[in-house]
Amino acid sequence: MKKGKKKKKLNKKKIIIISSFITIFIILLLLLFFFMPIVVFKKDIVVEVNSHVKTNYFVSNIFLGKIEDKEIYAETVGQGKANIQVKSLFGRVKNYQVTYTVKDTKGPDIESKDTLEIEINSTDDVLKNIKITDNSKLDIESKIEGDYKINELGDYKIKVIAKDKYNNKSSKDIVLKIIDTTKPQIEASSEITINVGTKIDLLKNVKVTDNSKENIKPSVQGKYDINKTGNYKLKYYAKDKSGNEATKDFTLKVIKKNQDIKETVNKTIKTSKGYTLIIKNGVASIDGVIIANKTYSLPSTYGNGLTSTTSSAFKKMQTAAKNDGLSIYISSGFRSYQTQVAVYNSWVQKDGKSVADTYSARPGYSEHQTGLAMDLNTINQSFANTKEYKWLQENAYKYGFIMRYPKNKQNITGYIYEPWHYRYVGESLAKTLYNNGNWITIEEHFGIDSKYQ
Ligand code: DAL
Ligand code: ZN
Repeated sequence: MKKGKKKKKLNKKKIIIISSFITIFIILLLLLFFFMPIVVFKKDIVVEVNSHVKTNYFVSNIFLGKIEDKEIYAETVGQGKANIQVKSLFGRVKNYQVTYTVKDTKGPDIESKDTLEIEINSTDDVLKNIKITDNSKLDIESKIEGDYKINELGDYKIKVIAKDKYNNKSSKDIVLKIIDTTKPQIEASSEITINVGTKIDLLKNVKVTDNSKENIKPSVQGKYDINKTGNYKLKYYAKDKSGNEATKDFTLKVIKKNQDIKETVNKTIKTSKGYTLIIKNGVASIDGVIIANKTYSLPSTYGNGLTSTTSSAFKKMQTAAKNDGLSIYISSGFRSYQTQVAVYNSWVQKDGKSVADTYSARPGYSEHQTGLAMDLNTINQSFANTKEYKWLQENAYKYGFIMRYPKNKQNITGYIYEPWHYRYVGESLAKTLYNNGNWITIEEHFGIDSKYQ
C-alpha cells in the first residue's frame, strides 16, 4: 500500500518535470522565432562611385540573424540609400534602410605602355594613344607635360596628367619614342619612251616624299643603254635617314630614231582624298572613272561617239521620263577633239578667251570627248526652270548620271552652273554624288583639281 502511493507520487513529479521542459522548450522556440536579430550598422558609410558594394559592407555586427547578401551599385556621386534585408534564424525578414555617401576619391586610370612609339611628324594627338578612364564616367581633363619634338627622332620623357571632375589627379611617366618606320613615297612615270641616242635625265620628273620631310635624292637601279633600242626594266630607289627603303619599277623604252613617241605618259598620283589617279596612255581615271577636266586632258585621238553603256543608260532614263509625260533628248553628245576646236574657238571669238573658259572646255579638255557626257534639251540657264530639269535632278542618278557642273561650284569644277550637262558615272557613284540632291562634284569626291596649268 505504502509502496503504491510512493510510485504514484513519483510519476506525478516526472510528468511535471517533463511538461515544464516542454513548455520551456516551446517558449524558447517562440522566442527564437520572434526574436529579431540585433544589427549594428556602420556609421558614415562612404562608397566609391561606380563601384559594386555588398550589403554586408554596411553592417559592423549582427546577432541571431543573417544579412540577405545583395549588391548595390553606386552610380553617381552624392547620397545613396540601400535597402538591407535581415533574416532571423527562423526566416523572419526585416527591412532596414541605410544611407551612405558616394564619393569619387580615385584619380583617372591612365592606361599606356611605358614606352610609346609615334611616327615622326605624325599629326595624331599623342594622347589619342593613351587610354584614360575615370570611375565617375564624367569628363576628364588630360595633358602632357614635358617637351618633345614630333619632327625629331629620339626618346623624350613625358608625363601624362589626368584630372577628373572631382579634382582627383593621376599621372604616369612615359617615354615617347619618335620613330620613323615609314618608307619614302616615289612618284614617277612607270614608262618613259625616248628615241635612240637621246640623252635623258631619268630623275627629272621623279618626286620623292617622306614623312621625315627630309630631302631625299632618288637614284636609278639597273642597266640601260640609250644608244641601243630595247625595253629596259629599271627601278627608282630612295632611302630615308632611318634606313627605310622604297623602290618603284619603270620601263625605259628606247625606240628607233624618228619613230613617233606616242602619248605614253603613264603615271599614278595619290589624290588629296587618298584615291589613286592613274594616267594611262594620256587618259586619267580613278577607280575606272575617266576624268576629263581643266587639269586632266585627253589625247587628241581619244573617243569615238557615246559609249554604249552611256547610250543605253540614257535610253532607259528617256523612257522613264516619257512614262512620266516628259521629253528628254540629247542636244549635244559626243564631241571629238576637232569638233571641240570649232566649238571653243567660236565662243572665244564671241566672248573672249577668259569668259569662254568659264563655260567651254578647250580642245582635249572637254568631257564631251569622253563619250560619257551630254547636254540635254535646252542649252541655256532657262532649262533650270523646266519640269524636265526638275525630273532629271530627282531621277538622273538612278540611271547612273550626275549633274556635272552644279551651282556655286565654279571654283571647284572650273565651270559655271550648267543645268543641262549630265555625265555618266555608273549608278553607285551617281547615288553617292547625288547626295540627296545636294550634288557633290567629281573633283570634291576624289580630291582632285580642275585648273589649266
Ligand atoms: N561646257 C563644257 C564645260 C564643255 O565644253 O565640255
Ligand atoms: Zn556639256
